[in-house]
Amino acid sequence: ARVPVICVDGPTASGKGTLAAETANRLGYHYLDSGALYRITALAALRAGLALDTAHEPAIATLAATLPVRFHAGRVLLAGQDVTEAIRTEEAGMNASRVSALPAVRAALVDLQQSFRRLPGLVADGRDMGTVIFPDAPMKVFLTASAARRAERRHKQLISKGNPVTLDALRADLEARDARDSQRAVAPLKPAQDALLLDNSEQSVEDSVAQVLAWWQARQ
Ligand code: C5P
Repeated sequence: ARVPVICVDGPTASGKGTLAAETANRLGYHYLDSGALYRITALAALRAGLALDTAHEPAIATLAATLPVRFHAGRVLLAGQDVTEAIRTEEAGMNASRVSALPAVRAALVDLQQSFRRLPGLVADGRDMGTVIFPDAPMKVFLTASAARRAERRHKQLISKGNPVTLDALRADLEARDARDSQRAVAPLKPAQDALLLDNSEQSVEDSVAQVLAWWQARQ
């Protein structure tokens, strides 16, 4: 049988990362943060002096296909340099959304994402894990939360890191990113046909994890 994969897709700041990482942890599975790959690609492109637009699509795709990236002990290394914090800013997220709309860049990252599928299993989070990267995954979750809730959570996170942003600016930012992610031609953000929908607006992380683990157990 194929190596099991649990896909967790959903909009910005829905809590996919936290849910997916904790689920992987509880099951002893590997974890793929696919958004990080787009964030790193955008950073690498900007550092190479490439504007994030269609004119530079082939060059950015080449960069993406040979990304010197390593995930180690919770840190993200780009060509040996620690970029863990640099890729987590709002700006880095917006830049990731720009490069992720370029089809050649998406294609260039397919093999790398699929290489994370190793025994005993994988939990993968992103926008198109269930629709494009792992269409045969035995379980797909589409995680949502209201825009207000998502903005609130992101706001708390950024403030606690000493990052001054207003709630309104943040919400506008989230909505712009979601609109771009949902409307792009290739691999738009949308639930797979066979996805289980989970709205965590009124749910703790622990409750969401418990729900996903219960669904997973019911399928074994
Ligand atoms: O999930 P995260 O916010 O880190 O993703 C950053 C951006 O990367 C998203 O806004 C989206 O445009 C893009 N992305 C994507 N496909 C994925 C994961 C992320 O297009 N599988």
